[in-house]
Amino acid sequence: MTDLPTASILLAIPFAHAVLRDHLAPGDLTLDATAGNGHDSLFLASLTSPGGRVFACDIQPAAITSARTLLHQHGVPPESVHLFCASHDTFPALLPPSIRGHLAAAIFNLGYLPGSDKSCVTSPNSTLAAISSALDWLRPGGLLVAVLYPGHPGGLEESTAVRALASSLPRHSAHAVELKALNTATPAPSTIVIRKP
Ligand SMILES: C[S@@+](CC[C@H](N)C(=O)[O-])C[C@H]1O[C@@H](n2cnc3c(N)ncnc32)[C@H](O)[C@@H]1O
Repeated sequence: MTDLPTASILLAIPFAHAVLRDHLAPGDLTLDATAGNGHDSLFLASLTSPGGRVFACDIQPAAITSARTLLHQHGVPPESVHLFCASHDTFPALLPPSIRGHLAAAIFNLGYLPGSDKSCVTSPNSTLAAISSALDWLRPGGLLVAVLYPGHPGGLEESTAVRALASSLPRHSAHAVELKALNTATPAPSTIVIRKP
């Protein structure tokens, strides 16, 4: 995403990864709701191996191919990362039902596929549905991390909708925080972290 503020990207994704690095352990089950080029799936696999599983969705076949290539290049065993070419709001029908309530973490790195024509971006309806389901599928103490990009067309609406959802969660069911750059002239990416008590 080279047209977005570099400093903000350098803050938003590393913050998301730092939170996950501190939280995940070998054997954990995770969801990557937007597989893209596979960097987040690779990161999750590195933290949860051996014994863990990453379930990753992307709506674009090109993204699934790209993610599969990256994982293969890094020697990630195919059984460690399950890639689904599907919209993330359908993940409850794709994952083994026994995993419900056992996900250690989910990441939603929203927006468009870096290097693509930006014609395929995440959108509020499916994103909100997927986030709601992911919160349901987290284990107690599980984390949901969402990286929001308000700078592209539709991105502000989606970011606002995700922030509103996180803000509206009852405190007995979730703790939500947001890390956001303040001293930028352009809309800056931010990272929302929701912890299930
Ligand atoms: C910012 S990229 C993800 C980056 C990726 N996590 C990585 O590490 O390379 C956002 C991705 O969301 C995907 N996407 C858009 N709508 C989607 C949907 N409804 N379900 C799943 N993925 C979607 C896009 O195809 C794009 O690849």
